[in-house]
Amino acid sequence: MAKKIILAYSGGLDTTCAVRWLKESGFCVICFMADLGQGGDMSVIKQRALSAGACKVYIKDLRQEFALDFILPALKANAVYEDKYLLATALGRPLIAKYLVELARREKARFVAHGCTGKGNDQVRFEVSIKILDPDLEIIAPARIWEFKSREEEIDYAKKLNLPVDVTKRNPYSIDRNLWGVSIEAGILEDLSIEPPENTFQITKNPSAHPGFARYLEIYFQKGIPKKINGKPYKILDLINELNNIGGFYGVGRSDLVENRLIGIKSREVYEAPAATILYTAHKELEALVLDRLTQHFKEIVSLKYAELIYDGLWYTNLRDALDKFVESTQKRVTGSIKVKLFKGNCIAVARQSSYSLYRREMATYGTDNKFDHKLAKGFIEIWGMPYRKK
Ligand code: ARG
Repeated sequence: MAKKIILAYSGGLDTTCAVRWLKESGFCVICFMADLGQGGDMSVIKQRALSAGACKVYIKDLRQEFALDFILPALKANAVYEDKYLLATALGRPLIAKYLVELARREKARFVAHGCTGKGNDQVRFEVSIKILDPDLEIIAPARIWEFKSREEEIDYAKKLNLPVDVTKRNPYSIDRNLWGVSIEAGILEDLSIEPPENTFQITKNPSAHPGFARYLEIYFQKGIPKKINGKPYKILDLINELNNIGGFYGVGRSDLVENRLIGIKSREVYEAPAATILYTAHKELEALVLDRLTQHFKEIVSLKYAELIYDGLWYTNLRDALDKFVESTQKRVTGSIKVKLFKGNCIAVARQSSYSLYRREMATYGTDNKFDHKLAKGFIEIWGMPYRKK
């Protein structure tokens, strides 16, 4: 009997070729398809895997778990990589890895495969996660082994073997999409001197073409978790989808980043993350209102580290677990509402309200109802600057 291998299958050219390539290498290929909110017709993709030679296909809707156990912790931590990337792709990988391992156990398979090439971050994220969760599994990455030198050669292979890939409507980009955002790279984007053409963008409208009116949204958070938009309660998946739609219409959440990949290469990636951008902006603003200065500033250091762990494929580590506990303890106070204004691609916080607010108007005011004792400042400054003075 052929050895079983669990393949993380997306339906794209690489993973479809991988099905056949693994089969020809003597495996019984069991495809695993995760629904992380990428859209597309799962049953069509399933059929594609079967016609490419898969012996079985599993589809699992992981959207809820993705939102609750991956997106929300990242949001609470304000995780952003290199100032511009809200980590949609990177957050999805450890979750897919978890289910690859689970399926390998269920199917008693000793092998796991993915379609990532040797140049990217995702191979690292998959493999580090899989090996942490089950060090006995053996991982095969066909795209690192096979002989195709280019995408064209791969397409020829697919054509020759009659593999069901959609090569007529060839997309000029490599796109990864889920609930939390879209990552777009390759093609013309590799030329850093060129502004991304409009066809780069999948879910956001062109902000400069947008009519000149703004839209206000009030986001209510409870302990760091977004619960309502303009007073209306939402379940988390609906809330994220709604904000992707509204934000996308206003061109919110686009970014263009030359990033430092984990494996030493600098690469250019364009991102779209309307919901993530709105929620990140509002969440951070609420923290500014309710956290004391020490905690807020320390949390900025934690945010950086947290984003790095996600980017670097180190989700299943003790440090991430420990940072989550710190972040969670800061979220006790993060309840309240932030009003943001969406306008021509921007998302700006314009009003805030919380019963945990540490803002004291009678202290801040320059009006007559001031309670701050100006005279106290003199002694404070004297002592504060003392260590640095000669006299
Ligand atoms: N650069 C991003 C990351 O490492 C996205 C990678 C996948 N991008 C893509 N267009 N397929 O997380």
